[in-house]
Amino acid sequence: MANVTMTVNGKSVSKPAEGRTLLVEFLRDGAGLTGTHVGCDTSQCGACVVHVDGKAVKSCTMLAAQADGAQVTTIEGLASGGELHPMQAAFREHHGLQCGFCTPGMIMAAVDMVNRLGAPLDEAAIRAELEGNICRCTGYHNIVKAIAAASETMAGMKTAAE
Ligand code: FES
Ligand code: FES
Repeated sequence: MANVTMTVNGKSVSKPAEGRTLLVEFLRDGAGLTGTHVGCDTSQCGACVVHVDGKAVKSCTMLAAQADGAQVTTIEGLASGGELHPMQAAFREHHGLQCGFCTPGMIMAAVDMVNRLGAPLDEAAIRAELEGNICRCTGYHNIVKAIAAASETMAGMKTAAE
């Protein structure tokens, strides 16, 4: 079994992994980061979305070995300095979760969506982009509201930093 090394949430993680080990297994079982969920075995639900080198990836569709040397961010690494990321804060504010199972993947996909498309994001764009994320509680209305609100906050932060 070869060692796989990656930077996860700013910390180096090096663990032995079989060639068939999925990135989501490496993160949950190897790194102990269980915020990334597994909700299907067909790459459809999006509960496992993390960022690999800044882009959203379904971590059940990638081998751990393919992420060797990569920078990975999981839901546990999104808050900074004790402050929730604006997307996490917006999900809380707008009640964008019910059981919470889909939430880590929704939030990681949503942050990537705003990073790629900017703000403001309208409802149709958000719904189209969420095609790969399933909420079994069907709380889409508030999820969309939360993402729209967070996109405005993130755009404001970007402008302030410029
Ligand atoms: S667990 Fe990855 S898409 Fe469902
Ligand atoms: S909040 Fe329950 S699956 Fe989305």
